Amino acid sequence: LHFEEDLNITHMYSAEGEEIELFRTIYPTGNVEDWLLDVEKVMKESVKDNIERSLKTYPETARTEWVLIWPGQVVIAGCQTFWTMEVSEALQTGDLGSRLFPKLSSQDDLRVCAVNAEFLYGYEYLGNTGRLVITPLTDRCYLTLTGALHLKFGGAPAGPAGTGKTETTKDLGKALAIQTVVFNCSDQLDFLAMGKFLKGLASSGAWACFDEFNRIDIEVLSVVAQQITTIQKAQEQRALFRPVAMMVPDYAMIAEISLYSFGFSNAKVLAKKITTTFKLSSEQLSSQDHYDFGMRAVKTVISAAGNLKRENPVMDEVLTLMQQCSGHKVI
Ligand SMILES: Nc1ncnc2c1ncn2[C@@H]1O[C@H](COP(=O)(O)OP(=O)(O)OP(=O)(O)O)[C@@H](O)[C@H]1O
Ligand SMILES: [Mg+2]
Repeated sequence: LHFEEDLNITHMYSAEGEEIELFRTIYPTGNVEDWLLDVEKVMKESVKDNIERSLKTYPETARTEWVLIWPGQVVIAGCQTFWTMEVSEALQTGDLGSRLFPKLSSQDDLRVCAVNAEFLYGYEYLGNTGRLVITPLTDRCYLTLTGALHLKFGGAPAGPAGTGKTETTKDLGKALAIQTVVFNCSDQLDFLAMGKFLKGLASSGAWACFDEFNRIDIEVLSVVAQQITTIQKAQEQRALFRPVAMMVPDYAMIAEISLYSFGFSNAKVLAKKITTTFKLSSEQLSSQDHYDFGMRAVKTVISAAGNLKRENPVMDEVLTLMQQCSGHKVI
């Protein structure tokens, strides 16, 4: 937050240093718990106001200019709104539209629809953070999770390490601009701590991602199930987590789009090279614990290459990437 000399709060900053002017200034008086709530309210109003104004100017401004004017989160929300609008318009020219998108009314709040589930955009300010590549697997995970949430269930993505379970869950929270708390569970977690956590969630309306749920002791888990049943009973729903199997992430697509986002123009070919290199290495090198050819390793190489590209934009793209691959501990 930015405080003026007289303590008036005028701007907010993201972790990346993005600045947003607040919709109205606030003066912190009284207890910190109270004025922080006010800050939260103004944060949401400001994001909402930015999105509304950006949507108005979108049709009149060149897209290349428009994306640079507005905060990152606003750009993503705005692009998705227009994309949805244009696709549904195109569908409505056929009769498909009436079945797929029955209602796309122009309400005040931004609404996010996923098949039959409908959510209000949360207007939580997220800063200018990176977002995931939407692959068919991410899409499937989103659809299952939103479908489950619509019925007031939870979701439980399961699968091997590094397939994007945690990140996809967090990314869905970002897509809806809803505060998402990621909690790393361990066998130290007891039902009292969990109870407190759930109380906090219920009163703030935030989402939670209980990462590594499998680590919780089975005895504690049974009480947790009870606690969740109680909460869901309050909403007259049954307790259930809907499973999503996440087996193999779409390496090539994630690599390609991540490379494009770092400014590589030959991303398609490069992505193929890098995924093939990783695939061959994992198949042909002896299996040793310190080898890692998962998605995390691919991401590490790509972000390192991306940083190098930023420092040295004219360097040959293949060289930039190869330098990172060879720097990676195994190749
Ligand atoms: N669709 C995607 N777009 C971009 N990056 C992705 C995508 N899916 C996964 N990743 C990247 O893959 C890496 C592993 O993802 P994540 O941490 O979510 O795995 P996980 O399934 O939770 O693994 P674990 O079981 O070890 O907790 C992260 O660096 C993440 O950014
Ligand atoms: Mg994880």
